[in-house]
Amino acid sequence: MTKAFALEAELYDVMPGRRAQTDVAFYRDLVERHGGPMLELACGTGRVSIPCAKAAGEVVGVDLAPAMLAQARSRAEAEGVADVASFVEGDMCTVRLDRTFPLVTMGGQPLFFLPTDEALKAALETVRVHLAPGGRWATGVPVLHWEDLAAQQDRLLFVAEVRHPRTGQRVAVWDYTSVTEVTQVATRRRITEILDEDGLVLERRHSMQTLHYRHPAELQRLIRDAGFVFEEIHGSYQGAPFGPKARQMVWVARAADN
Ligand SMILES: C[S@@+](CC[C@H](N)C(=O)[O-])C[C@H]1O[C@@H](n2cnc3c(N)ncnc32)[C@H](O)[C@@H]1O
Repeated sequence: MTKAFALEAELYDVMPGRRAQTDVAFYRDLVERHGGPMLELACGTGRVSIPCAKAAGEVVGVDLAPAMLAQARSRAEAEGVADVASFVEGDMCTVRLDRTFPLVTMGGQPLFFLPTDEALKAALETVRVHLAPGGRWATGVPVLHWEDLAAQQDRLLFVAEVRHPRTGQRVAVWDYTSVTEVTQVATRRRITEILDEDGLVLERRHSMQTLHYRHPAELQRLIRDAGFVFEEIHGSYQGAPFGPKARQMVWVARAADN
């Protein structure tokens, strides 16, 4: 794990807007409707799984990044759910836990971290093999609208200044994003600066993240071909109808043969 990624993991939960995100309520509502235990693939810091843990009875989070898992474990401890929340290092394309769950979730668009259709199909197979009979898979992705991204294209934009949650230092965060419309690939260079109280940069880190968007029709086809049926498709986590102007595609699906 690089130091740059460890810093991003420590800052993940304090970035502006993180706590206000509406997807947590969507996933918690699903747990209340359908019950747990819940498996969260690409769980990160437990932003979604930890608030669902009590209602689910048990949550298991899987993530590739040890630094994110370390945050998740200490957050579960701090929020008093460590007895019902466990976190496992693994790749959502290959992990096999040898058990099934009534609910499998993926908060925060992790499907778009997968660079190829082969990787995406492997992740869908991971979901399928972990679904209990009648179990549901729920997740969402952003829908790429060029006009939304054009304002950020090839520009260095200030994101926020936050306090480092462990050291209390000032931290300034900047993003430089480039999107290639025809390939649907977005590359984000995140520049994270640790400042002293006078604003002098003590440390500057650059980290790269690539998102591989898929058009909703393309993604729906891949999901159906992988043996899922859609129970619900929404245009937002609050249940707006899905249509051409939707900024999100959010769904609940079941395995067709299960
Ligand atoms: C944007 S974060 C989302 C984290 C969390 N689900 C949330 O909603 O806050 C994406 C996470 O996906 C993880 N990730 C990316 N590719 C992965 C893979 N192939 N298998 C497991 N985790 C993966 C990253 O380590 C990161 O923690």
